[in-house]
Amino acid sequence: MSIRIAILVSGRGSNMESILRAIKDGQLDAKVEVVIANNPAALALPTSRKYGVHAIAIDNQGLSRAEHEKRVLDELSLHNIDWLVLAGYMRILTTDFLQHFKHQDGYFRVINIHPSLLPAFPGANAYDDAFKYGVRVSGITIHLADEKVDHGPILAQQSFARLEDDSLESFKERGLAVEHKLYPAVLQSIAKHGIQLLPGGLKQEEIVLSD
Ligand code: GRF
Repeated sequence: MSIRIAILVSGRGSNMESILRAIKDGQLDAKVEVVIANNPAALALPTSRKYGVHAIAIDNQGLSRAEHEKRVLDELSLHNIDWLVLAGYMRILTTDFLQHFKHQDGYFRVINIHPSLLPAFPGANAYDDAFKYGVRVSGITIHLADEKVDHGPILAQQSFARLEDDSLESFKERGLAVEHKLYPAVLQSIAKHGIQLLPGGLKQEEIVLSD
C-alpha cells in the first residue's frame, strides 16, 4: 500500500533526495505530501521542488519551540500523512508534538535516521564522534522517534567499516552511501508490510537494498 509521508529537513537534504529518487524510480511506493524546512536557506527546499514536491520553510528563528512546533503542526494538518520522516532535521521534538502522531499501538508515526549504531554516539555529530573515538565498525540506524533524542524502537541498522586509511571525509562518504540506500528501503518495507516490531527491529529479509 502506498504511504503518504511528510519530510522534515534542516539542510542539504541528500536523504530526502534519496527518498524522492526512489519514488521517481518506482522503488518506493510512497507520496511525499510536503517537505518542511526549519531553515529557509536549506538546500533541501530547491532540491525537493525539482521533484515537484510542495516544499516550505517554517523558520524557527525568533520563535519559541512551542510556537514553531505549532506552525509545523498547522502545516502538517493540511495534509493527510501516514508517516512523518525526519531527514537531517536538527531540532528536538517535544512530547507534545510527538503526541499528534501517536499510533494506537503506542508508538509515534515518526521515523528518524541517525548515522551511528545506536545507542552508540547519539547527538548531532555522530560521524565525527564515532571517527574520533576510533571505532572499527560504524553504521546507520533507522528508528521510530520517542521522547528522547536519537532514541526509540530500532527499525533497521546497517554497518559499514572504517578503513585503515580513512579520513573523516571518506568515512562519512561511506556512511552516507549506506544512508541513501537504507532509508528508501526501510520506507518501502513499511509501505509493503507495515510495521512489524520484533525485538530486533523490522524483519530484515523484508528490507531490500538496491545496488
Ligand atoms: C545525515 O547524516 C543524517 O543521518 C543525519 O543528518 C544528516 C543529514 O544529511 N541525521 P542530509 O541533509 O540528508 O544530506
